[in-house]
Amino acid sequence: MSRVFSGIQPSGNLTLGNYLGAIKNWVPMQDNNNCLFCIVDLHAITIPQDPGLLRQATREAVASLIASGINPKKSTLFIQSQVSAHSELSWILSCFTPLGWLNRMTQFKDKAGKNREQACLGLYAYPVLMAADVLIYKATHVPVGEDQKQHLELTRDIAGAFNRYFNVDHFPLPEPLIQGPAPRVMSLRDGTRKMSKSDPSDFSRIHLLDDAETIALKIRKAKTDPNPLPYDVKELENRPEAQNLVTIYGALANKTVPDVLKDFAEAPFSIFKPALTELIVSVLNPIREDILRLLKDPHMLDLCLREGKEQAQEISEKNLSEIQELVGFLKN
Ligand code: TYM
Repeated sequence: MSRVFSGIQPSGNLTLGNYLGAIKNWVPMQDNNNCLFCIVDLHAITIPQDPGLLRQATREAVASLIASGINPKKSTLFIQSQVSAHSELSWILSCFTPLGWLNRMTQFKDKAGKNREQACLGLYAYPVLMAADVLIYKATHVPVGEDQKQHLELTRDIAGAFNRYFNVDHFPLPEPLIQGPAPRVMSLRDGTRKMSKSDPSDFSRIHLLDDAETIALKIRKAKTDPNPLPYDVKELENRPEAQNLVTIYGALANKTVPDVLKDFAEAPFSIFKPALTELIVSVLNPIREDILRLLKDPHMLDLCLREGKEQAQEISEKNLSEIQELVGFLKN
């Protein structure tokens, strides 16, 4: 049985990108793997957060995962800040991570922007904490969207550096699993940019909590080109917005892109967009209703998080203790 770990930030409510690139792929993995899914609130505070909103977003993220099919009876579902071994291992690993490796991280460059001197240390060290998240459970597989690939390559490098330094095989080198038909869902306003919670325009993304009317409006306003959909996949290549909408359709309908094009060849967007809206609403509406229902029962969510925390603590503390021993920390 493989050990699977993945994480998601509780910053604003989750998007269709999170769902198709990550969560939807996690659900079937629960049946034949030992899975841990973590709401990474320590990562969320690398950008400024309002404390009340962070707490609310954390609850919403938990409810969203459960509503999307993460079963806390099958998987360990927990909050990162409640398991202190993540932070402790992060410090140890930061002492095995050359600055040169962190300097290559494109997500830091994007998020820090031009004013790098003002970016906080946490944002810079973000990928080391991510490595700690994975390695504290000796996870072997990490299902993520494409944007996390570079961070997971760094995780493997850090694990390798630690193993080599102590001449041990302590950490398995985790495999990134970038799966599914939509590993990179793009913005609805610009088909060359990732759909992201941090985009200033709400029209760039669909949220799991958007109602049918909002989804219809966002798809109606989604950027497209004037041409109808083609027969041939190759003709989508230079049409990033059209390609994105067709990919989203295929991923939600469990159809390949050529099959979607077979159904909609020569259709103008005035035909395709309403069909896409209907499909998105049919998949997201039951999830949305379930999220809202779960949020009305914070006691149940807390109970499930407490169990998750205990399971995560048990695994992580055992590993942390072995790591402290290897490093040479004195224990009484
Ligand atoms: P986060 O919170 O940005 O995203 C959570 C998951 O959703 C995927 N994703 C997307 N996939 C396809 N298209 C998109 N537009 C899109 N946007 C987001 C992400 O790839 C991710 O899988 N650093 C991570 C969280 C993290 C983590 C970890 C992940 C912390 N520790 C350890 C794996 C292992 C992040 O910010 O994800």
